Amino acid sequence: MIGPMATRHIAVIPGDGVGPEVMAEALPVLAWARDRGRDLSWEVWPHGADHCLATGAILPETDFLRLRDGFDAILFGAVGDPRIPDGRHAEGILLRLRQELELGVNLRPCHPVLDAHLPLKGVPAGGVRIDVYRENTEGPYCLQGSSGPDRAEDVAVHTRPAVERLLRAAFEGARARGCGLTLAHKANVLKHGHGLWMAVFRELQDEFRVVPARGLHADALLCALVQDPRPFGVIAADNLFGDLVSDLLAAFQGGMGMAPSLSWAPHRPWRCTALAEPVHGSAPDLAGRAIANPTGMLLSLGLLFRHLGWEEEAGLLDASVATALQRGAATADLGGTLGTAEMGQALRAGLG
Ligand code: NAI
Ligand code: MG
Repeated sequence: MIGPMATRHIAVIPGDGVGPEVMAEALPVLAWARDRGRDLSWEVWPHGADHCLATGAILPETDFLRLRDGFDAILFGAVGDPRIPDGRHAEGILLRLRQELELGVNLRPCHPVLDAHLPLKGVPAGGVRIDVYRENTEGPYCLQGSSGPDRAEDVAVHTRPAVERLLRAAFEGARARGCGLTLAHKANVLKHGHGLWMAVFRELQDEFRVVPARGLHADALLCALVQDPRPFGVIAADNLFGDLVSDLLAAFQGGMGMAPSLSWAPHRPWRCTALAEPVHGSAPDLAGRAIANPTGMLLSLGLLFRHLGWEEEAGLLDASVATALQRGAATADLGGTLGTAEMGQALRAGLG
């Protein structure tokens, strides 16, 4: 572990598709934070589809260890490339980092700043503030299973330490905000895995009596969210349901280009225990056209600033982004005409 005054080393992995395009808009914000006096350095890493196709390397062990032990955090774009249809490089980079760095707590906030995208007419954007805590390393995303011509299995693994870390972070988040907590589950049919989630959930309900907490079947939760998101504060979910809920909430913010995320490992001794990335993927349909929305990427960097204890920079960045959006700055996905670079410039304009 490093002391509070040490330089923060950030590994920047732009990745594939629109990843490098949106990352290009975040790098000036790193420079801004450094110019404000934050002790910060960053290094851009080449890992992604191009690197994999050119060298055959995905994330060699020496690179993984250097990331784990030599950096404090990772700023990530996206991975996924049609030239590697089995997605093995994405597995070997992003899933590996999430799993081997045990970045099990994934926060995906939904704080819409525009009314236009909310499902119910008359719901003010300021009235919706939902933080999704998604378990990020287990569930059906652990790549275990088997497939044959007539039968295929994906195994979902849930372990008490990972479930407890996720739920504890969610309860702490709800307590800090003074809001309620909803657990998305399907314990009625996923009796084993979600049975464990419910057991840990009940234990923590006893510990966090001040937090109004309830479980809701995930399908019913999606329906309730679309009908009226206002009653929800914190939502906790396993890897699969957290993935689904957070994409739905991205739509409330204006689409996939808007949603940020931060993953961390609350329990780990190694240095690199946080990864900030937009919720979206590499968007091959937009890649190379310079029209991707960089908002989710910039807001993810804001989450990382907050995680590093740089509350002032996080607040200034959030405010700058919100002001630009309220003034109508918009890429094509938001119904506007700005390209990625112009949008990035507009979002940073309030930083001075
Ligand atoms: P996606 O998030 O890349 O795209 C879904 C939709 O959102 C598309 O219509 C796209 O145009 C739009 N979109 C995404 N990012 C946007 C942005 N910044 N601005 C405006 N619109 C944006 O998800 P999809 O299509 O399911 O996956 C594409 C590739 O990305 C696949 O290879 C997938 O495996 C990978 N992926 C990677 C993720 C990651 O690196 N964390 C997450 C999700 C998917
Ligand atoms: Mg997703």
